[in-house]
Amino acid sequence: MRICVVGAGYVGLTTAAALANFGHEVQCVDMEQAKIDSLTQGKVPIYEPGLEKLIRKNLKKDKLHFSSNVIESIRDYPMILIAVGTPSREDGSSNLSYINQVINLIASNIKDYKIIITKSTVPAGTNEWMHQMLVEKGIEEDLFDIVSNPEFLREGTALWDIFHPNKLVFGTRTDRPIKVLKKLYESEKVPYIFTSLTGAELIKYASNAFLATKISFANEIARICDVYEVDYSDIYKGLATDPRIGRYFLNAGLGFGGSCLPKDLSCLKHSASKQNVETKLLDAVMEINDTQIELYLNKLGKALPSLEDKQITVWGVTFKSGTDDLRSSPAIALIKQLVQIGCRVHTYDPMVQLELADVSSYINQYESVIGSDVLIIATEWDQFLKSDWSEIKSRMKGSIILDARNCINAQTVRKHGLLYLGVGKR
Ligand code: UDX
Ligand code: UDX
Repeated sequence: MRICVVGAGYVGLTTAAALANFGHEVQCVDMEQAKIDSLTQGKVPIYEPGLEKLIRKNLKKDKLHFSSNVIESIRDYPMILIAVGTPSREDGSSNLSYINQVINLIASNIKDYKIIITKSTVPAGTNEWMHQMLVEKGIEEDLFDIVSNPEFLREGTALWDIFHPNKLVFGTRTDRPIKVLKKLYESEKVPYIFTSLTGAELIKYASNAFLATKISFANEIARICDVYEVDYSDIYKGLATDPRIGRYFLNAGLGFGGSCLPKDLSCLKHSASKQNVETKLLDAVMEINDTQIELYLNKLGKALPSLEDKQITVWGVTFKSGTDDLRSSPAIALIKQLVQIGCRVHTYDPMVQLELADVSSYINQYESVIGSDVLIIATEWDQFLKSDWSEIKSRMKGSIILDARNCINAQTVRKHGLLYLGVGKR
């Protein structure tokens, strides 16, 4: 099949590379010329394990092409896959201006039948609205099918996720595109879920809202464990062994961040409230997440009553390990609060050298702790788990280790004369 992927961001690039690898002829377009130039040379602007190799392989096989000529590509390709950004607005709604732009371009350039697939996460009703927009612009319904095909890719394991999906979701208005859609991904054994356009949109939001709910649930239970002096990790084992509960997304810590979970939760709440549906559960999920930093800072404040002017090192700045993505990173929110309190903040991250006012960023894990009163683990990078604690003890001024991801072995830390602090961890 010949497919044009619009948007060479995180989702667009991963999807384009995978589709080319399945044997399709893929043209990935983006309005940013500089991005296209470097991609054409096989240089990928984001960090995703295996992606650059896959892109280079398919460029070489002539299966994948990059272009900034969006109009020509939209005109030439029979299948358009939209993967442009849908950022959050202040009120939680999604900014759909990029989607709007793409639909306008399709409307002005469509000559023959096209399947238009929305990969971007868009609020309930958006794909129906896209269909109506094309109709209102005088495009015959015979000339196109809109399909909603949400992605479920985790950063850091996106290629694994796309090659081993646990389901494929397609929302359509009619049965017409289904035969073609079944040939899109090489995944015959996984369940195919066909539903309406809005149904597919809501599957995506419900999935991310459920994952967020699990995390806030874990965080609330960890708070209860904390006051009863119980290790949340014991509770975790008890929960995770029950297949009805499952073992994923139950790690307690600073809370969820990234470009999807917070944004999608806000957007789902917004879609519900627009139609006067109350979202008490989702509100609570958000509220718990929004107070995790305060919880950890309170914990620290009890051990070190005046934080002002203290030197604090924060390890990990990305929104989770395995990525260089800083979008909605709880670690960054924590760092900003520490700066506001008047702390002198040092940071170290294996992937990113943070550039932020009043923050000193280090390229060496152990140098970043020299003279610090406190070390906070804000992202669970493997490297931190294997730290040399005697080296850290000898370099720090103080002795407090605040484990904000429940990932460090408390006994090991204590053995080296350091004070271990965590929530729901003894
Ligand atoms: C985005 C959304 O954040 C996510 O919710 C959705 O599921 C998929 O799209 P991501 O790929 O990370 O995820 O977005 P982003 O990194 O912003 O990439 C979008 C790309 O589209 C950018 O490279 C941008 O230059 C490009 N773009 C945007 C166009 O080529 N044309 C446009 O009109 C708008
Ligand atoms: C998420 C979804 O998992 C994916 O299906 C969707 O398509 C895009 O959004 P991603 O944003 O890459 O993927 O990150 P994810 O692995 O879901 O983690 C989100 C946040 O939750 C991170 O900040 C992570 O640290 C946090 N988290 C995750 C926890 O706090 N505890 C957990 O147990 C799991």
